[in-house]
Amino acid sequence: DSYNVAVVGATGAVGNEMIRVLEERDFPVRELTLLASERSLGVEIDFRGKPIPVKVLDENSFKGIEIGLFSAGGSVSERYAPIAAAAGCVVIDNTSAFRMDPEVPLVVPEVNPQAIGQYKKKGIIANPNCSTIQMVVALKPIHDAVRIRRVVVSTYQAVSGTGKKAITELAEQTRALMSCQEVKVKVYPHQIAFNCLPHIDVFLDNGYTKEEMKMVNETKKIFDDPSIGVTATTVRVPVFYGHSESVNIETEKKISVEEVKKLLSTAPGVTLIDNPKENAYPLAIHAAGKDDTFVGRIREDESIPNGINLWVVADNIRKGAASNAVQIAEVLIRDYL
Ligand code: A2P
Repeated sequence: DSYNVAVVGATGAVGNEMIRVLEERDFPVRELTLLASERSLGVEIDFRGKPIPVKVLDENSFKGIEIGLFSAGGSVSERYAPIAAAAGCVVIDNTSAFRMDPEVPLVVPEVNPQAIGQYKKKGIIANPNCSTIQMVVALKPIHDAVRIRRVVVSTYQAVSGTGKKAITELAEQTRALMSCQEVKVKVYPHQIAFNCLPHIDVFLDNGYTKEEMKMVNETKKIFDDPSIGVTATTVRVPVFYGHSESVNIETEKKISVEEVKKLLSTAPGVTLIDNPKENAYPLAIHAAGKDDTFVGRIREDESIPNGINLWVVADNIRKGAASNAVQIAEVLIRDYL
C-alpha cells in the first residue's frame, strides 16, 4: 500500500526536513503534494530525485490526500486542519493549535503510541513541542520503573526552532559582530548572537512563557498523569540545530545512577553517552541530523532523597518535529489505515 501525502509549510525549516525524512525512511508515498503560501509560487523541491512544484494552500488542497503533515504555523493549522480532516485526510499537526484539545491525541511513538487511535474523533494527531518530545523520550523508562513525581527543567534551545528567518538572523548577527558592523535585531526582541534569551514564545499572565507552559501541560498529557509536577525555564541560545536540557527529577521510589543508565541504554530512541572521564556527554553538534535523543551526565541529586540529574540533547527539527511526525505516520498506516 502507498499513500497520498501532503506537506503543509513545505518551504519552511520543519516542512523541508519532513520531505527529507519521508525520503530517508522510505515512507510509502504514492504522490507527494507540497503546499505553502503564494510567496513560494514557482519554487520546486526535490523528492526522490524529482522536482515537485510547491502549490498554494487553499480550501481545495486536500482532495484525495490521505495524510497531511502540517508545519506552517498555528493559525494555518487552526484554519486548514479541520478542512483537511473533513476531506478525509488524517492531519499530523506540528503546531500547538490542537495539542491540548482533549479529542486530539498528543503523541511521541516511543512513549504513548496507543494514544494514536483517538485520531478518529477529529482526524487530527498533534506532534508535541520539540523540548517536550526529547524530555519525555528520556524520562519514559524511568517513569515506568519508579514513577516521576516532579521535574525541574531548564532548556538551551536552538534558533532553528523559530524557523528559517531565525537561522539567518543568528548567522548575520554573528558575521556583523565579528566584523565590527551594526547588529540588526528583527526576529527576537534582543540580539541572539553571543547571548542567551530567557524568553521563548509569548509571556503569559502567570509570568511564565508559553513555551514553558507547553512543557508543563504536554508532559502531563503524554504521560497521561496529571499529578506529575513540572516546572520549566526555557532559554534561546546561539546554537543553530539541537536543543539541550538540564533535567532534574524526583522519583517516588529510589533509583540509582547505575539503574538509570541501564534503563536508558536499552530504551527505544535513546543513545546513552555518559563517560565524563573521556569528556563524553551529549552535544548539540553531535545530535544535529540524528533522530535519537542523547542522554548523559547522569548523577544523583544529593540534595533530596530520590533525585536524579540528566542532560538531554536532540535535534529539534528532526526528533523534535519532522521525524516524530513521520514516525506517527508510520504507526498510523501500520495499525489504522
Ligand atoms: P512560505 O515559504 O511560502 O512563506 P518557517 O517555520 O521556516 O518560517 O516556515 C514556515 C512555513 O509555513 C513555510 O513553508 C511558509 O511558506 C508556510 N506558511 C506560512 N504562512 C502560510 C500561509 N498563510 N499559508 C500557507 N503556508 C504558510
